Amino acid sequence: MEDARRVSLAVPLVLEWYRIFKRDLPWRRERTPYSALVAELMLQQTRVEAVKEKYVAFMRRFPTAEALAAASEDEVFKSWEGLGYYSRARNLHKAAKIIAQEGFPRTWVGVRALPGVGDYTAGAISSIALGLKEPAVDGNVLRILTRLLADGSNIDESGTKARFKALLAEVYPDETADFCEALMELGALVCVPNRPPMCGACPWSDLCKAHIEGRETEFPVRFPKRERKQVEASVLVLRCGNKYALEKREKGLLKGLYGFPFFEGEIAPAAYGTVLESKRAVHIFTHVEWDMTGYLVDTASEGWGYLWKTAEEIASACALPSAFCAFKAWLF
Ligand code: ADE
Repeated sequence: MEDARRVSLAVPLVLEWYRIFKRDLPWRRERTPYSALVAELMLQQTRVEAVKEKYVAFMRRFPTAEALAAASEDEVFKSWEGLGYYSRARNLHKAAKIIAQEGFPRTWVGVRALPGVGDYTAGAISSIALGLKEPAVDGNVLRILTRLLADGSNIDESGTKARFKALLAEVYPDETADFCEALMELGALVCVPNRPPMCGACPWSDLCKAHIEGRETEFPVRFPKRERKQVEASVLVLRCGNKYALEKREKGLLKGLYGFPFFEGEIAPAAYGTVLESKRAVHIFTHVEWDMTGYLVDTASEGWGYLWKTAEEIASACALPSAFCAFKAWLF
């Protein structure tokens, strides 16, 4: 059977399955283009379970693009706390300002031009909130399609994604939102990565070429992952009375957020005061790993150009990224 024919037969099957088995997720209850933008940016690098509560709280705090546009960056970061990858929060804030001025874009190209929106997210928002037949193809969608077609193309090659996008665009049904989310849902619930897929529960089991041939786990085919750069770093938790030193990070990872004073390489913590404790912690970003040694140091005077805040002030007003979590425990 030709690929295009197999994919077109797959469309009604996955739509029907989705209507029965879809999860009740907060962003599926009430949809506006703005709410879809918030949800899709939150979901970019974060699991559904971790996003659910944050999404509800965020939408309560900033129910419209106008409300978000009017907020300060610190407030936005505070509502984003715990989700990580804070550049998404900064981009969402910028996007809200554009939308508040110009209205929500009505085309894929317009959505794609918003800060923080890549091809996949533009496809998702266009399909889910604007009724456009614009496929959203990410690793999950590539996995279910390469299995459906037993297609051994390397999914890390740029042409592969483009080819699957074109294939989906040919068969895109009028129910654009359901179809987009049905593909995501099948990849999340049934045709899962890293473990054998649950083919017994799959609406495509009689159609899926990989399953028919017993080769489900051979797909997708991909390049080996790029290595993560390891950075040795030192973190100072400087205490003076009931206050702690913070710096607003000026560049690089976590830019614009507050953090404990951070140094690449080793430092001499005793130069700052009395060293009370030290511990190691690791934080993993996409392409970088911080291998940190943290020091809790009592110091006699507030200085070094740092901001000095009490633990309560830090808890209530400063978004401290989870990279510093292990050291934050010293404050409470
Ligand atoms: N991942 C990315 N977008 C999603 C959505 N709308 N629903 C569930 N998972 C998703």
